[in-house]
Amino acid sequence: MPEIEGIRIIAPDASSRSVSSIEEAIAVSGSHHVEVTYRYDPDLLPGAAGRPGNGMWRYRRLLPLGPGDIRYPLHVGGTPLTTAPELARRLGFSDLHFKDETRGPSASNKDRATALVLESGLRAGKQVVTCASTGNVASSLAIGAAAAGLHAVICVPQGTSPLKLQLMLAAGADVVEVAEGYTAAFELSRQAAREFGWLDRNTGVNPLTTEAKKTVAFEIWEQLGVLPDVVFAPVGDGPTLAALAKGFRELLLCGAKGRMPRLIGVQSSGLDPLVRRLHGEPPLAADTCGTKAEGIAVPDPVSAAVVLRDVRESGGTLLSVPDDDILAAANSLLAHAGICAEPAGAAATAGLIKARERGIVDPQERIVALVTGSGLKTPQFLPTDRRTRAIHQDLDELRKAIGALP
Ligand SMILES: Cc1ncc(COP(=O)(O)O)c(C=O)c1O
Repeated sequence: MPEIEGIRIIAPDASSRSVSSIEEAIAVSGSHHVEVTYRYDPDLLPGAAGRPGNGMWRYRRLLPLGPGDIRYPLHVGGTPLTTAPELARRLGFSDLHFKDETRGPSASNKDRATALVLESGLRAGKQVVTCASTGNVASSLAIGAAAAGLHAVICVPQGTSPLKLQLMLAAGADVVEVAEGYTAAFELSRQAAREFGWLDRNTGVNPLTTEAKKTVAFEIWEQLGVLPDVVFAPVGDGPTLAALAKGFRELLLCGAKGRMPRLIGVQSSGLDPLVRRLHGEPPLAADTCGTKAEGIAVPDPVSAAVVLRDVRESGGTLLSVPDDDILAAANSLLAHAGICAEPAGAAATAGLIKARERGIVDPQERIVALVTGSGLKTPQFLPTDRRTRAIHQDLDELRKAIGALP
């Protein structure tokens, strides 16, 4: 375990205070982001630790986890970095990669955070775990908790995708739909954890969530053999981007060669509080905003200040893209890259296309876009303008049905 240098709670207005332990941070962070820093040293570099087949645990020298065998039973991390030549060609990029985080027990990047939080809970003898979620954190927690022999109590906003709810219930979780929306669900889950002593897997406020998600940056670095020039990530509460930044920063602090990649966060123009803050614009009125990309439908992001800091320091930016462009990007990923993404999972790709149009990225740069969640959980958004045709077992009918082939 790396030696902890400091633990800071960072409020959305960027004010911060120090606390002395991760447990204290979780207890008192309210709905603010918690950041842990270590005394960095080259021995912590991922290449020196673990075995390649170990997924995320390969990087445990840079995770706040004591010695001893890993008890959490599911494999997480070690996801593919796909080159997708056909989509790259169509979009006009020469060195484009997709980090396919749809490959995990519950098919989203949330599985990393779930694994580290539940590992800590198993070590602490916890039996019940809670989270609030726009859908994927909860699906991940329901499945992970069930496999680890723990019970999950989940708070989601009303309107969460039906298949995600079905997955949570089928896995045995208790699920409540909170009428007042995501922020209220978050506060309720936090309150319950404190009151009942449950393990708290709420994103950003439990620093283990970002600690686990930073391993994506380690994997990208190892898979490319160098640091990329630019990385695109979707932004809801913000820990996904904050963790990515932390991972790259830690690699550099441990002596990896290269420069910090420019980080470009992507929100839906239907709900883009951080893009607006970056440009000094007022937020959208609460009753007019919304997005089909439910994973990034977050009006008051927990990690607001950290995302703004990380994006600025990296020389990157934040972009808004309309839902229609996000759905089109999901379609392109499926049709040309072999990746089935849900809308939030495809938002980074939509941002990538916009950044190319605006000249924010050079098509020759080494670029990675994160695909954070699978479209198999949101079939309502899969494109539906094409139809099957019913025919008999007859070659002529088949020829007529398929029309001209290329
Ligand atoms: C598929 C998907 N992508 C992106 C996000 C946003 O992640 P973060 O809240 O860490 O910004 C989420 C969050 O639930 C998600 O489900």
